[in-house]
Amino acid sequence: MSGRLVVVSNRIADPRKPAAGGLAVAVGEALNRTGGLWFGWSGNIVEGGTPGEGALRVEQAGKVELATVDLSREDHDAFYLGYSNNVLWPVFHYRLDLARFDAGYFPGYRRANRLFARELAKLLQPDDVVWVHDYHLMPLAHELRQLGCRQRMGFFLHIPLPPPQILAAIPEHEWLMRTLFAYDLAGFQSEADMTHFSRYVESEARARVLDAHHFTLDGRTLRAQAFPIGIDVDEFEELAEAREARQVAGVMRQQYATRQLLIGIDRLDYSKGIPHRVRAFRELLAQHEDMRNLATLIQIASPSREDLNAYADIRAELDQLCGAINGDYGDFDWMPVRYIRRVVARKRVPGLYRAARVGLVTPLRDGMNLVAKEFVVAQEYNDPGVLVLSRFAGAAEQLQEALLVNPYDAHGTAETIYRALQMPLGERRERHQALLGRIKEHDVHWWRQTFLDALDETAQSATRARAA
Ligand code: G6P
Repeated sequence: MSGRLVVVSNRIADPRKPAAGGLAVAVGEALNRTGGLWFGWSGNIVEGGTPGEGALRVEQAGKVELATVDLSREDHDAFYLGYSNNVLWPVFHYRLDLARFDAGYFPGYRRANRLFARELAKLLQPDDVVWVHDYHLMPLAHELRQLGCRQRMGFFLHIPLPPPQILAAIPEHEWLMRTLFAYDLAGFQSEADMTHFSRYVESEARARVLDAHHFTLDGRTLRAQAFPIGIDVDEFEELAEAREARQVAGVMRQQYATRQLLIGIDRLDYSKGIPHRVRAFRELLAQHEDMRNLATLIQIASPSREDLNAYADIRAELDQLCGAINGDYGDFDWMPVRYIRRVVARKRVPGLYRAARVGLVTPLRDGMNLVAKEFVVAQEYNDPGVLVLSRFAGAAEQLQEALLVNPYDAHGTAETIYRALQMPLGERRERHQALLGRIKEHDVHWWRQTFLDALDETAQSATRARAA
């Protein structure tokens, strides 16, 4: 790839420090390899600040230059809490019931995207390659083009893209989707998302379909493709071998020597299906007496977007549910569910995965889900745990050797968990080996490289088209 890499995402993290959330971790790892510029929101909210304005700060963080802007309270509430997380997030996760279509959100979304574009344009060099991430910034290339920027631009959506009939519930869906044509390349997590995209642009946007991956609208050709995101396998293996993780695994194994441990680690988000998971676990205890006093679920949920009602509701529901199960089934020497609402330090996470016999990754809908991949990588080769994975996570397209479940079906999920807990060593090893191979092959570096190579190819084919 020629030119400096410029990554843009709403949430950014200092790549020298551990980050939370799939996007920040993956992007940080991709940038650490190449160096470049990472542009995004500083995380600061300026009370009483002027809408559409925010101070720009630039600092060096190792190989990566970090450029951030502040958001005024009004922009933060309309752009981030409002349009991004009260409209796009629920709709893109198929949850029209949770979407709030407030008329004030959309102007804030455009304002913040214009602010990002204006401040970023000041820093861009002619041969930069610009890679924009996630639903907060879909129209960013459109705004940059309006300012005269002609650089290569790619977009990657980290969350699912729903079918056209669901997308069309967003009042501004047409404008939003058409702005994607300002990019040269659009990337999605899964083939399912890619299918929804091509159906949408054909039926709703009436773009011309050149082939499975090229679409033309108003004179611009967009390439679109699935690029399933991966993890930094080497880094995670190292983390799993380090003292902290080994210590955690050792302590947990000792404490649960006579138990069977199941683990779930998620952001506390309604898309993750945590209450459904806990209900499936209750069903396991109800149906299988031999699991009582034996199976223990450790559920860690890191607080997220707490200013939004839907997140307060899920928190209350979980508090109630976990309390009820422990009350119904617990004994003085055994609590079925250990529910911890806190961020766990990243270096301890592989130890928890390793001590568990079963990893529960059962979102109702998820773009990819990197916890599924991390759980597999953390396992000991000779005695690996079993991954129980929702068929509605993007990762299910790749991780077919996991035990796939429908998280809405509590009974079916409970029976699959039961099977996972009793799976013989030979089958566990076979499945683990197959999963690990695929995760290693498609790691975060593969993801970065294939996306950027494809973006580069769009430049070459545009040059060829101009010459012809
Ligand atoms: C998901 C989204 C990211 C987001 C992260 C954390 O992984 O795809 O774009 O950054 O959640 O959410 P937050 O709202 O705290 O940035």
